[in-house]
Amino acid sequence: MKRWVFGAVFVVQAAFTSTAGSETLLERGDYLVNAIAACGNCHSPQTPEGPLAGMEMAGQFLIEMAGMKAYASNITPDVETGIGAWSDAEIIEAIRNGKRPDGSTIGPPMAFEWYRHISDRDVSAIVAYLRSVPPVRNEIPASTYEFPLPPAYGPSVQTVGEPDHGDLVAYGAYIAGPLGHCLSCHSPIVEGMPDLENQLGAGGQVLDGPWGVSVTANITPHEDGIGSYSDEEIKRAVTLGIAADGTELTPPMGFAYYRNMTDADLNAIVAYLKTLEPLPDP
Ligand code: HEC
Ligand code: HEC
Repeated sequence: MKRWVFGAVFVVQAAFTSTAGSETLLERGDYLVNAIAACGNCHSPQTPEGPLAGMEMAGQFLIEMAGMKAYASNITPDVETGIGAWSDAEIIEAIRNGKRPDGSTIGPPMAFEWYRHISDRDVSAIVAYLRSVPPVRNEIPASTYEFPLPPAYGPSVQTVGEPDHGDLVAYGAYIAGPLGHCLSCHSPIVEGMPDLENQLGAGGQVLDGPWGVSVTANITPHEDGIGSYSDEEIKRAVTLGIAADGTELTPPMGFAYYRNMTDADLNAIVAYLKTLEPLPDP
């Protein structure tokens, strides 16, 4: 089974703006990045005491999994060491298609299998937010992969429509998939990739880090999963990291980000998770 070994503590970050009807693109991006997508869970340097002050999105986080030593990039607007010289279209191409402006492929474990389905509006909002964080000069070591990176993660995606915000289950699927990549962690690894096809949400991924060893939970409505959880218990697990039996969940899930999620979005996730095929633990 594939393991993740994290080189630094992988949680906590706060800055949060609440959302409501007439939000601007920047407000939407702030919310998406700091409540759902949790980009900073990899891209913002963390210390055991929390995020390193003044270093939001400045990179350097080391993720070691079988065959890779990946350093999360500096994605602040610094021109020389970050992505300050990239156009909006180039940043969107990086997030959705995993391609840099020079045409090279960005390596794992960023969830390109999901990010390619982020809507045009939401990916633009994320870019607007990335442009708003202070530029930080921070040279990041190159990642090394012992396997060849794919020429592409799939057919090039150029435009994605808005999901139906009024359909609770469909919108929940959009949050748990494209925006939050919950299901990339919560599905078992088969042949190096999360098995989204046959074991969606069944858990069982082993994640090593400074916290010890975490095994991702089964979040399908099976009795091995969250079948007996109330809606409130599911929401408490996601936002506070407290399981139904009251025990504290271990990292690296981004509780510190998810606690900023609106109740409406949490309800959508819960509604969606309940529609997953109930699967036993792998
Ligand atoms: C699971 C960890 C993880 C998460 C979450 C993550 N990234 Fe990344 N990202 C990486 C790693 C590692 C790299 C560098 C890969 C490499 O060196 O090839 C990277 C590279 C990038 C790059 C390319 C930068 C460059 O200079 O080449 C961009 C842009 C980027 N990420 C944006 C984002 C955004 C926006 C989000 C949130 C929507 C995000 N990432 C979430 C791990 C992550
Ligand atoms: C970086 C990997 C990762 C991501 C992303 C992630 N999780 Fe988790 N999650 C875990 C791990 C690991 C555990 C189990 C921790 C433990 O057992 O202490 C867990 C536990 C849970 C639990 C508690 C289940 C139980 O049996 O008590 C729920 C519910 C959950 N996650 C839902 C989500 C949702 C919804 C999202 C997306 C918004 C998400 N997770 C994103 C790694 C992740």
